[in-house]
Amino acid sequence: MENILEIKNLDISYSTHNGFLKSVDNLSITFEKGKVTGVIGESGCGKTTIINSIMKILPANAQIGKNSRIIFKGNDKNLLTIRKGELQDFRWRKASMVFQAAQNSLNPTLQISEQLMDSIWDHDSSISKKDCIRKTEKLLHMVRLNPERVMDSYPHQLSGGMRQRVIIAMALVLEPEFIILDEPTTALDVITQSFIFDILVDLQKQKNLSMILITHDLASAAKLAHNMVIMYGGELMEVAPSMKLFNNPLHPYTKGLLGAIPFIDGDIITKKSIDGTPPDLINKPIGCIFQDRCPKVFDRCKKEHPEIRDVPGSDGKRKVACHLEEIFNE
Ligand SMILES: Nc1ncnc2c1ncn2[C@@H]1O[C@H](COP(=O)(O)OP(=O)(O)OP(=O)(O)O)[C@@H](O)[C@H]1O
Ligand SMILES: [Mg+2]
Repeated sequence: MENILEIKNLDISYSTHNGFLKSVDNLSITFEKGKVTGVIGESGCGKTTIINSIMKILPANAQIGKNSRIIFKGNDKNLLTIRKGELQDFRWRKASMVFQAAQNSLNPTLQISEQLMDSIWDHDSSISKKDCIRKTEKLLHMVRLNPERVMDSYPHQLSGGMRQRVIIAMALVLEPEFIILDEPTTALDVITQSFIFDILVDLQKQKNLSMILITHDLASAAKLAHNMVIMYGGELMEVAPSMKLFNNPLHPYTKGLLGAIPFIDGDIITKKSIDGTPPDLINKPIGCIFQDRCPKVFDRCKKEHPEIRDVPGSDGKRKVACHLEEIFNE
């Protein structure tokens, strides 16, 4: 198994008026090459912060811990500390990004063809106009948009789902091997979401792309992700291959998230959410970060922080941060 990206001991705090907010806390994740890793958790658990640290676009009030490392393709350089020139190469040639709420970031005054062609030209000024048009059409086909219908349109003439597909096409301009998608389908209706996930599944397979898929929606991630990383309050709760996680969730938080997936029972859609509110990240509790909302909480959880541990017999592919011994003694 080869890794495309490794995050080691990532710590990120934001300086705020009320003190330091620990948004990512000693997080280590490996992302397998040619696979999709879903990073899942409720709003505010630190998903975008992680991605922004990979792309080096954290806001000015963010502080990165000094032992934190992000390693791309086994190269021993730490992305968090490399020079700007090297970063440019990483950011645009090897990795590309679809930002949260990106469908609203298209320029309203330019036709879709102009926006796509501009981004092709930005990276290859020697390309002829004819080739540039051909490439634009090819990119639109890849996201199942009809160039004849879309090329001359302005963003407001397209639906949200079509705009989002244009954004995905833009992320493909430089044929990256690695794509990061932050909530790519939020704000779209369920049918459109599902269609976009179908397109992403196809693209991933065709091009053997490595992907990070950020979402709070475990059910849609399941369609695409080979592996899942479950986060809560800036910490890892559980890591597992997707099927294993679905068939046999181990952490009480993962069980809660699965319970929160809507399912249709006759005519009634049932959805059970997890009780309680997200943790205070400025004054984090001693012990487990999930203790206040955990149905299985016991004494030790309030005193001792549970380290993330390998589940026996999983070849290091399953990890859980929980004090419940039954998880590790199956
Ligand atoms: N610039 C900032 N200054 C202070 N706090 C911040 C800043 N950006 C994010 N935070 C806080 O850091 C935590 C993690 O935020 P982040 O945006 O990474 O979460 P997220 O998992 O992406 O959430 P969402 O699902 O809503 O996009 C949250 O508590 C958030 O309020
Ligand atoms: Mg986010």
